[in-house]
Parts: sequence; structure tokens; C-alpha cells
Amino acid sequence: MQEDLERVLFDEATIFRRLDQLAAEISAEYHNRELTVIAILNGSIIFMADLLRRIPLPLKLDCLSVASYHGGTVTSGEIVFRQIALPDVQGRHILILDDILDSGTTLAAIRAKLAAEEPRSIKICVLLRKVKGRLRPVDADYVGFDIGGEFVVGYGLDYMEQYRNLPCIGVLRKELVAA
Ligand code: IMP
Ligand code: MG
Repeated sequence: MQEDLERVLFDEATIFRRLDQLAAEISAEYHNRELTVIAILNGSIIFMADLLRRIPLPLKLDCLSVASYHGGTVTSGEIVFRQIALPDVQGRHILILDDILDSGTTLAAIRAKLAAEEPRSIKICVLLRKVKGRLRPVDADYVGFDIGGEFVVGYGLDYMEQYRNLPCIGVLRKELVAA
């Protein structure tokens, strides 16, 4: 798998150092508040597991599954919620966790859906944020790393459901990405 990468952007030690900082910020902010973390499947699973174990607060964890990509590297723009019932968020402080903020389509749709359930507050935490312009007006309150426009895999991020289990984050070799 590692040989399919053109270059490594963040190795495991670098990711873990950043998670220590993010977890400290989040812990300070949500101290004494009713925190519910909503992790977006499948991309945030590994990030979520490593981040939450660094947050020594009582919290509830729920997951949401959405689909938008249908296999390519460009978002289709349409978000489908896969579960029947939404997590119970009313009156709670919500922190949404996702792998990457790209066009913003996914997170804008999720935030709007959860906001309609009247939580106390909603914030967004992403491992990665692409610097290029969003299609939707959404930003993250906590960001692991800002990156350029390239397509990345590893540490939860996939290309056609592969590479999620790579311990680092890297840029996939161009010839492996379908045009
Ligand atoms: P958005 O709706 O365009 O912001 O896209 C968000 C989703 O697209 C993420 O949750 C990822 O699943 C996927 N995605 C966007 N960019 C990348 C990338 O560079 N590598 C892997 N997945 C990506
Ligand atoms: Mg994906």
C-alpha cells in the first residue's frame, strides 16, 4: 500500500502530536458541558478512535453514515443519509468529527440536518481541510492540518474504499487515480 503513495504528507508521529494538541483544545472547551460527538462514517473512524482516547471528559458518541462519492475523487454534490433514526442531539453540545473538509457539501448537509434537531451548539472538527474554495459556506472549528488540493489517502481516508488502514496520510500516485 505504502508504495502506491507519491509522497507522505503526515506520518503517524506527526498525526499523533497534532491529535494531542487538538484533544487538549477540545477538552478545555467542553469541560463541564454535555458533549455529544457525532463521527461521520467511514472516513473518520481511525481519527475518532485516536482523538477521543485523548479527551478525558464524559461524552456520548454516535455515528452518522452518509454517501456522496460513488467511487471517484470528485464529489457528486448529493448527500444521502443512510440511517433511519438520527442521534438524539436535542439540548446537547454537538461536535461533528469528519476526515476532511473539501467542497463542504457533506458537512453543510450534516450540520443543517442536526441543527434542525435543536442542539445547544454545533461545532465541527476535521482532521484535514483543503485550502481551495468551498461550494458550501461551511468551515471547521478544529482542524488537524490544512492541505492543498491533492487527493490524499490513509488514516481513514480512502480511494474506492482502499487505503483506510494506512497509518500515515499521503498523496496517491497519479497513475492509480482514474481520470
Ligand atoms: P466534500 O463534501 O466535498 O467536503 O467531501 C467530503 C468527503 O469527500 C470526505 O468526507 C471524504 O470522504 C471525501 N474526500 C474529499 N477529499 C478527499 C481526499 O483527498 N481523499 C479521500 N477522500 C476525500
Ligand atoms: Mg470516501
